Amino acid sequence: MAPRLPKPRADLAAFPAYRTGQQVKADVRLNANEWAEPNPAGDWLTPRELDAVLLNRYPTAALDLRGLLAERYHVEPDQLVLGNGSNEVLLNTFLVFGGHGRTTLLFQPTYSMHARLTVIAGGTVVDELIGLPYDITRDRAVAAAAKARADIVVFTTPNNPTGNEIPFDAILAVAEAHPEALVLVDEAYSDFAGTTLLAELAAHPNMVISKTFSKVRAAAGLRVGILITHPAVAELFRAVQLPYNVSTLTHAVAAKIARDDASVTRRVAQNHRESGRVYEALKKVRAIETYPSVTNFILFRMKEETPAAVHARFLEKGVLIRDISMWPGCAGCLRVSIGTPEENGRFIAALDHVFAAAPA
Ligand SMILES: Cc1ncc(COP(=O)(O)O)c(C=O)c1O
Repeated sequence: MAPRLPKPRADLAAFPAYRTGQQVKADVRLNANEWAEPNPAGDWLTPRELDAVLLNRYPTAALDLRGLLAERYHVEPDQLVLGNGSNEVLLNTFLVFGGHGRTTLLFQPTYSMHARLTVIAGGTVVDELIGLPYDITRDRAVAAAAKARADIVVFTTPNNPTGNEIPFDAILAVAEAHPEALVLVDEAYSDFAGTTLLAELAAHPNMVISKTFSKVRAAAGLRVGILITHPAVAELFRAVQLPYNVSTLTHAVAAKIARDDASVTRRVAQNHRESGRVYEALKKVRAIETYPSVTNFILFRMKEETPAAVHARFLEKGVLIRDISMWPGCAGCLRVSIGTPEENGRFIAALDHVFAAAPA
């Protein structure tokens, strides 16, 4: 007999867990837009520094890391809110500005967590379907925002899964037309593109920008996310922030990684070379449509075949990519992350096998 279970909130009763694909075994993992080269924790802290990390005390180093990052972003430390990955600061965004009776406008297809976190916070998603190619014009953005009258408007730029940027004038026009709405700009991949809206924060107090250590800083396992906004808005976030949400160990490593600007420059250049190589190889495959990307991943759409079949054939060659065909506007689509040069070679070599039998 099934046990009697406690009753959850009705809108979460049938809510599925986020699928990460972590349980799938593969030699080459190109499914999560991480930086593929190993980044061992031992490279960052000497045994002596590790001994200075006292785990019996609650973390006190948040101010140091905020100061360090504020310098890099040319803002004041009180404009920063740190989280356990940017997903945490994103959740806080929806807790503070979303929730029951409030709405989030999303331009689909986009990072699926924005919709999930809206719902988890108790709010409602309004989708504006852009589809592919993902071209958001200023007029389109302004019209969608005027119609939705949402409490939160989200722009992910460069966008996941499409890999392209949203014109800044579209984002700023929405922020200016709706000063009472919060405009969230997710810049998880902006370092790869070399662009940012940070300079516009001062003139747009209703804008928040999120960033992460998970991509170009090669530290997805560390879990560091950053939100940057007007100091008064940052204060609103601190009201919901969990005390000591970023661990002492994380602070110690993150403070080292934050200073390593040379590696960021090197990775951006390497990603540019490697994504170009993968893009050129994909472009030669007649069975797919490939979308240009300024990020560390590339989206492509099967013209005839089901993405599940193609995904499975990559896995036969030991290469795990991401099936995102269930995301809004992404029917027939798969996404591949850029890996190490060797891994990208494995992906490119697999193309012949994967598409040998595909209808042209
Ligand atoms: C657009 C976007 N934002 C945020 C995140 C989450 O990053 P974090 O690891 O900082 O939680 C991702 C991760 O893939 C992403 O694609």
